[in-house]
Amino acid sequence: MHTTTALIHSIPVDPLTGAVSVPIYQTSTFVQEAPGVNKGYDYSRTNNPTRATLESLAAGLEQGSTGIAFASGLAAIDAIAKLLQTGDEIVAVDDIYGGAYRLFTQVYEKFGIKINFTDTSNPEHVFNAITPKTKLIWLETPTNPTLKISDIAAIAKIAKAFNCLLCVDNTFATPALQQPLSLGADIVVHSATKYLGGHSDLIAGIVVTKDPELGARIKYLQNACGAILGPFDSWLVIRGIETLHLRIKQHCTTALEIAQFLQTHPAVDRVYYPGLPSHPNHAVAKKQSSGFGGIVSFTLKNDTEAAAVALVSSTGLFKLAESLGGIKSLISHPANMTHKSIPAEKRRAAGVSDSLVRLSIGLEDASDLISDLKQALDQPYTRTTNNHSIQQVSTTAN
Ligand SMILES: Cc1ncc(COP(=O)(O)O)c(C=O)c1O
Repeated sequence: MHTTTALIHSIPVDPLTGAVSVPIYQTSTFVQEAPGVNKGYDYSRTNNPTRATLESLAAGLEQGSTGIAFASGLAAIDAIAKLLQTGDEIVAVDDIYGGAYRLFTQVYEKFGIKINFTDTSNPEHVFNAITPKTKLIWLETPTNPTLKISDIAAIAKIAKAFNCLLCVDNTFATPALQQPLSLGADIVVHSATKYLGGHSDLIAGIVVTKDPELGARIKYLQNACGAILGPFDSWLVIRGIETLHLRIKQHCTTALEIAQFLQTHPAVDRVYYPGLPSHPNHAVAKKQSSGFGGIVSFTLKNDTEAAAVALVSSTGLFKLAESLGGIKSLISHPANMTHKSIPAEKRRAAGVSDSLVRLSIGLEDASDLISDLKQALDQPYTRTTNNHSIQQVSTTAN
């Protein structure tokens, strides 16, 4: 059976009523027949039937044993970090999502957990960054926002050799394109706010583990710490997942067209899209995923923050907003938005330059999106680098 058919039919019909849509069990508690005797549910922080349906759906999609749904992607990341003890170390991708950077460095470092950031697109760097205290390797692939690709299978071998857990943030690729657990990772994490939800209408996070015992430890933390996903949002994610494969297919097709257009525009310096043969990790991306995703980033010839700010303020269809993975195309300036919590030198060193612009390609027609980008890129600020023009740009940006 094809994946899409299996996915659609893995969402159960309600056994009580035959409803084809999963019921939203909007309840905090469940009546017990006698103390401790219940139908498998006693309190919705601990377990809820709507959330449980999402959790098993996510586990199936990622080919794992256990799914655990959280109130946000960061709450999901937080639960994984809580597996560690004081003195432990994490080796993490240097071009990490800004919120994960903030969580690791501002919250966990003060509890004595050290983070070694490295360019994980070269497995040798991961090998070199590991110390006897390393317990967790943290990848995003593709990364946010420079779309770096790390070789999951190669790094999984290193993780096994050093007895570390390998966690892959699969938010950008989604299980429709890439299944890290089948490539050797131990844990997959998602900001389900993005493609899994798919409609920019919720905040949610999901963890999936390969090993049921590890899954049980994270499930314990979900209940003990309490950052659970509510029933209605769980239902929205289920509804999003129902069309995931179809949406991703279209996101990928349009994103490639847009990346190819950007490559030809004289104002654009560099285009970041793993589907372009010029991408430095194109071969690895091709090997480990069945498509290249819906995010495209680029830098301007006028490599200034002012030019990028002016550009992101000049598009019409591309809405200037944080987040990604929805049906409406979004444009953002990571240096000022998603990656603001990373100090400028570290951000630049990780490849996030001042003029870098990130696009989340939605489901609009590709030709309309290209026209919108073209009119914004054709404006003079994208190419001029003298101070006079930059001055003008600041005025425009404000
Ligand atoms: C790759 C990645 N992981 C995790 C997160 C955090 O997810 P959330 O915003 O749902 O907490 C984000 C948010 O942008 C992200 O881009």
